[in-house]
Amino acid sequence: MTAEKIKEIVAQMTLEEKAAMCSGADFWHTEAVARLGIPASMVSDGPHGLRKQDQEGDHLGVNESIKAVCFPAGCGTAASFNRELLRTMGETLGSECQAEGVSVILGPAVNIKRSPLCGRNFEYYSEDPLVASEMAGALISGVQSKNVGTSIKHFLANNQETRRMSSDSRIDERTLHEIYLAAFEGAVKKAKPWTVMCSYNKINGTYAAGNYQYLTETLRDQWGFDGYVMSDWGAVNSRVEDLKAGLDLEMPSSGGVNDKLIVGAVESGELSGEVLDTAVERILNIVYRYEENRDRNVVFDRDKDHEMARRVAEETIVLLKNDDILPLSEQAEIAFIGKYAMKPRYQGGGSSHINSHKVTSAMEAVKGMGNITFAVGYDDQADQTDEKLLEEAVETAKRAKAAVIFAGLPDAFESEGFDRKHMAMPDCQNELIEKVAEAQPNTIVVLHNGSPVEMPWVNKVKGIVEAYLGGQAVGAAVCDILFGRVNPSAKLPETFPLKLEDNPSYLSYIGEEDVVEYREGIFVGYRYYDKKKMEVLFPFGYGLSYTTFSYDHLSVDKERMKDTEVMTVSVDVTNTGNMAGKEVVQLYVADRESTVIRPVKELRDFAKVELAPGEKKTVTFTLDKRAFAYYSVRLHDWHVETGEFDLMIGKSSRDIVLTRTVTVESTVRLPMVYTTDTTMGDVKKNPRAWEIAREVLKKDKDLFGGQEEAESEAASEAISAEMNAAMEEYMPLRGPVNFGGQVTMADVQALVDRLNALEE
Ligand code: BGC
Repeated sequence: MTAEKIKEIVAQMTLEEKAAMCSGADFWHTEAVARLGIPASMVSDGPHGLRKQDQEGDHLGVNESIKAVCFPAGCGTAASFNRELLRTMGETLGSECQAEGVSVILGPAVNIKRSPLCGRNFEYYSEDPLVASEMAGALISGVQSKNVGTSIKHFLANNQETRRMSSDSRIDERTLHEIYLAAFEGAVKKAKPWTVMCSYNKINGTYAAGNYQYLTETLRDQWGFDGYVMSDWGAVNSRVEDLKAGLDLEMPSSGGVNDKLIVGAVESGELSGEVLDTAVERILNIVYRYEENRDRNVVFDRDKDHEMARRVAEETIVLLKNDDILPLSEQAEIAFIGKYAMKPRYQGGGSSHINSHKVTSAMEAVKGMGNITFAVGYDDQADQTDEKLLEEAVETAKRAKAAVIFAGLPDAFESEGFDRKHMAMPDCQNELIEKVAEAQPNTIVVLHNGSPVEMPWVNKVKGIVEAYLGGQAVGAAVCDILFGRVNPSAKLPETFPLKLEDNPSYLSYIGEEDVVEYREGIFVGYRYYDKKKMEVLFPFGYGLSYTTFSYDHLSVDKERMKDTEVMTVSVDVTNTGNMAGKEVVQLYVADRESTVIRPVKELRDFAKVELAPGEKKTVTFTLDKRAFAYYSVRLHDWHVETGEFDLMIGKSSRDIVLTRTVTVESTVRLPMVYTTDTTMGDVKKNPRAWEIAREVLKKDKDLFGGQEEAESEAASEAISAEMNAAMEEYMPLRGPVNFGGQVTMADVQALVDRLNALEE
């Protein structure tokens, strides 16, 4: 529907109708206005399947929803590093929504994994903003290609569950832009989600729902977002102010209470009618975008989509360790051990919980094989070793040629609504792994978890398979990997630290009462571990394959570019092994020298390529200014410092195989703002400024009597030349006044004015 037509409809609405349109009709629908033919529009969770509630609604996954297909959660799909796959999964979700009459699916969820403890990490993608926003963008494009909207969430800086409705994420400007906003930015700009969901928390003192700076200035003015912003369920705190800030739709219904506030505010003149009209227009625009593109012929074929969920799961499983044990022979006597082999943990708890139409466990997947034995090993309802189950598991393992233990985090250990207390797996499972590995040298562990765990037994087992929360087809997908029917190709989208205390947010995570200071700043995930040269359990970007890949010919289309240009980078990748496989090619960029504190390197692009044995492909990336930039708080913009940068191709963040150096020239000069506190060293950076300053300051012979004098004086008083130089370097322009010389504060102020005039 055209913008004019929508305006016409809005013009016919009463004030009460408009106010009502800005809040849900119930838990999942927007308001209908029958007399104007405006239909109600349904939204549903999300993000990795459809949680459509036909009956009683809730936002915690308590009441039943329709039977649907549960795809792997975000933790896993991010590990695929495969945009195409996410797009296809999105298309499937979009079709399911069309079949079920859902206009917007509530996701993807892109919040940065600041700590392994966040209860909702299983839904989120990565510790790296590029991975998060690229994966989200791909999913959004897929869903929306079916004329169904998405709601990228939770905007902004919602990185913990503790006190999620009142906590205040205190984050500095640079960190917000480089890490937390960046997770949304690429997806919003490129994939254009129809809606955005604001988070519950505050950002630097202002609730996300009422945050004009982020909802309007950033989202709309800077990123060009043109859909509607909806609140997370119950995130509206001050309806009228929130509307002014850019929060269009309140969800769920306020039961009319907030509608009355809006009406009253317009009548009293506190809220302009235009603001209300704009919000209604934005909502109707999306309502009609869906309505006019309804596809009523689509059928929700759950069995077909189950196969899609299996394909996705196969690419989300990361092979973490393989001491010549995998793949297993299909004929060997193998013991499957652990409750999760029979009843996998394949999704997380809370609003994303899908009522799966079927679940394939690993035991079911090997049903016809005849050579697989089973022992349950542990119960995940209580963290207590059951000696009988343990003994039985050890005996079963001993009798086989190899043992595969299906372990992981129980539901009670991670969920929406609360954070994890530690990074450990249940003690009973750790004990089981230790005991089985003692009895059976060929032991493999398959993990079902939404976030990193500590692995005290890492050196005692021969194989580790990270299945994440792999969706309803996880058992089949895991078996495909174990028996080598599928070559693993996923990589970790997050670092697995050795222990929780190593994590950069450890000292300040969850904060004090409602205040959460993000003290680690931009050093989140590998940005921190690399800078500190810390040993980790498994690094960001890491994952093994059953084949090998070699890289060569890292080339660029230019050695030097201005920051207004783009650079093309290519590299050849060859499958040097015997099995077809996919490789995630990672391109990191490092600033060789910088005046600001920067990470050692940052992921700036990635690609997934499929190669037959012996096959070679050239992978090409295009880098623009942003790949070399940091966010300057002086410019309030992205900035590149002229100089050399290393382009690094890595198999992981800790396995860089090729490096090449290029030069980027900045076309933007950072304006210098001189004050009486500016140091001599900073003035010297501009020779003309220093010339002027010396002229003024030389009045003070004691301090600025000339280099020779200074040197001889330094020598006579046994002050090293270095110390003397440092004294001058770090002396503020007002320094000479403090030392009681002849230069006055008025002289210094006049000098400062002259220097600032130079900058104009
Ligand atoms: C969650 C959202 C979800 C909404 C609706 C909230 O509690 O934070 O992610 O979309 O409920 O279920």
